[in-house]
Amino acid sequence: MKEIYILGGKKLKGTVKISGSKNAALPILASTVMINKEITIKNIPELKDILTMLNCLQHVGKNVNFDSNTVTLKPSNIKTGEVSYEYVNKMRASFNLLGPLCMVCGTSKVGKPGGCNIGQRPVDFHIAGLKALGFKYVEEHGDITLIKPDEFDKKLYYSLPYKSVGTTEQLMSTAALISGSITVLENVAMEPEIIDLQDFLNKCGAKISGAGTDRITIHGVNELSGCEYDIIPDRIEAGTYILAALGTRSKIEVQNINTDHIQKLIQVIKSMGAEISGNKNVLIIDGNKKLKNLNIVTAPYPGFPTDLQPIISTVLSTVEGESSVNENVFENRFNYIGELGRMGADLKVKNNCAYINGVKKLSGAEVTATDIRAGAALIIAGLMAEGESIIYDANHIFRGYELLEEKISGLGGSINIY
Ligand code: EPZ
Repeated sequence: MKEIYILGGKKLKGTVKISGSKNAALPILASTVMINKEITIKNIPELKDILTMLNCLQHVGKNVNFDSNTVTLKPSNIKTGEVSYEYVNKMRASFNLLGPLCMVCGTSKVGKPGGCNIGQRPVDFHIAGLKALGFKYVEEHGDITLIKPDEFDKKLYYSLPYKSVGTTEQLMSTAALISGSITVLENVAMEPEIIDLQDFLNKCGAKISGAGTDRITIHGVNELSGCEYDIIPDRIEAGTYILAALGTRSKIEVQNINTDHIQKLIQVIKSMGAEISGNKNVLIIDGNKKLKNLNIVTAPYPGFPTDLQPIISTVLSTVEGESSVNENVFENRFNYIGELGRMGADLKVKNNCAYINGVKKLSGAEVTATDIRAGAALIIAGLMAEGESIIYDANHIFRGYELLEEKISGLGGSINIY
């Protein structure tokens, strides 16, 4: 497991370029099993989770090349509809291959994802949705087997019990190839990554509308074509660096972003007293202000993103006064609180809400990362803290942040990875 050494307590400066979105790329890559034509997808971050997904695609028979942030898929026949638990255990998003593989092979078998450090992460909404579309499923020995019906109803409908991102992506991709049927999905997730998936599939000849609203309509087609596509910027990586500027009371420039995707964050940091300027694709954040405490509630998009919850809590840990951060999406996303406490932060968690009493300064310490975003929060805490911090189990962090050492060093942060 890698370790990250940070010497904190100094301001950041300069510019950071944001990479393509991991959470947009993963469902798009999963959907390519349904396309037997040449596909080129650009702006894909070189991250462990992406490599895991590309390994899944190669495992089922796709001809994959990944070079300079571009994935090229050549026409190739799918040779198996089975994805073992080994892949899904490494990365939950592999489960999104279940429906698309079933559309191509007639039946598919994918390991059921286990939980992770932020929660149990069940897939009951995925299964209920696929059943509503007419699929049969069998669950045994930890695997889900999906069977395509001989015929689909002409009108298909499913209202999600929760605005689940993965469920929305799985059902939208699968229904794209239910030729001759109209599928209406309601109470769907509205994240920018859902819109990116719709735009990719439509560029491949799908007929999908409504992504970004709470109802998506899919007119199934017989076949999808190839295309060239660019992945949207990673709004969570952008939010991480924007909040790093606030935590270290610095002024930095963040490039290659889409500010439409981070409106809630912009509203929050403005209310904290940060000054921002720039345009749709570049943001200049001046966090060198006396920041104001506040209360945050996470929610599905366009609410405050749960993936930035550990990071805003870290920033608030040195903002004078009492703040609170209420986690409404995952049941166990405060594992980092104890680690921040080791650095001198004063936070307590009760009923899935962190109550934060701002302290003057954090002090460097040895801490352990438990998941991607908790790890990112500890890096920011290390940059904020006086003295040296060592972050153990740092491999988690590299699943979600490309060129981490280069980007933080480029902002003047003192970071070394061993
Ligand atoms: C996606 O996960 C993201 N991952 C997560 O980012 C993100 O935190 C999450 O959406 C919420 O925005 C990817 O896009 C690869 P959900 P996903 O289905 O699709 C419950 C990161 O750090 N649920 O919207 O798994 C679930 O347990 C990751 O990049 C069910 O109960 O999220 C959770 O409490 C972490 N049954 C809530 O819904 C289901 O069948 C939201 O889950 C599905 C989900």
